[in-house]
Amino acid sequence: MSDTPTDYSGPQRVLSGMQPTGQLHLGNYLGALKNWVALQDDGAWDCFYCVVDMHAITMPHDPAKLPDAVRSAAAAYIASGVDPEKSTIFAQSAVPAHAELAWIFNCVARLGWLERMTQFKDKAGKDKERASVGLFTYPVLQAADILVYKATHVPVGEDQKQHLELCRDIAARFNRDYGKGEAVFPLTEPVIQGPGARVMSLRDGASKMSKSDVSDNSRINLDDDADTIARKIKKAKTDPEPLPDSEDGLADRPEASNLVGIYAALTGKTKADILAEFGGQGFGAFKPALAEVAVEYLAPISDEYRRLITDTTEIDRILRQGAERAQAVAQPVADEARKIIGFWG
Ligand code: TRP
Repeated sequence: MSDTPTDYSGPQRVLSGMQPTGQLHLGNYLGALKNWVALQDDGAWDCFYCVVDMHAITMPHDPAKLPDAVRSAAAAYIASGVDPEKSTIFAQSAVPAHAELAWIFNCVARLGWLERMTQFKDKAGKDKERASVGLFTYPVLQAADILVYKATHVPVGEDQKQHLELCRDIAARFNRDYGKGEAVFPLTEPVIQGPGARVMSLRDGASKMSKSDVSDNSRINLDDDADTIARKIKKAKTDPEPLPDSEDGLADRPEASNLVGIYAALTGKTKADILAEFGGQGFGAFKPALAEVAVEYLAPISDEYRRLITDTTEIDRILRQGAERAQAVAQPVADEARKIIGFWG
């Protein structure tokens, strides 16, 4: 058996994606979208950002709502600053090469690798016999999303690290078994987001801000208007103590820590600077300051989102153009894999 080739020397490429399930919120923005925009604006990367509607059907879903959910996610990407002229924005299902490569990878990945995936265990719940086979093989499709562009870097949250390891395992195994000494696929690196990456619920500092939380007050949605943003921050859960003077004082105070973290992420200040300013003051003083910062930062994103979402023609044009550009990169890679694996024709 030959050694695993590691000498991949293709272009530096970024790919990431989000599911079109529910309204995107501040957690998605600070945890992912802000970073996508930074990578795009850095100029050194060829960026592909997809809406993963094929992943969305691994769980029960309403077919009548899926197309608008895809448009809504795309509008949120654009309103957040992903520029369709600089980055390729598209729906995963519009580029059949993802599915083609996913099948090949289903035959490269081992059952044992997938059985270790914690996200499957969480999503399948107790009755895993009833989970779709697609949910089980979800990380293989994710690897195909990435490797069909030979993406070298993937900006994701901490919770996706295990899926990225699987992606590398698949690339390494394919290269070793079929590459004839060449690194056909790169060993993709995750780009894990910095501070502010983990935004917690406004109602419970111990759980992540989430679109599936029943309380709308737990999150700031990317389509909330200025008044709603300010109201949700004023209602946010806190403790009765004043803010501490230093970061150590935030330990064991999840709600306070979360609000200071959001302030830091939105202003680019460090937590230490913020506490130097607000230490000793109560939330009666800090919340209005945070609300002001949040409104100033988020209201333009929300305005742009609400404008775009009414312009279906424009979003569809962007998604079609994105799909064409994505297909032009992805299909040759799928064809290369077909050839290497020995398919006819
Ligand atoms: N699994 C990712 C999530 O839950 C979404 C996703 C699908 C993705 N394909 C991807 C992320 C490819 C990065 C790259 O967030």
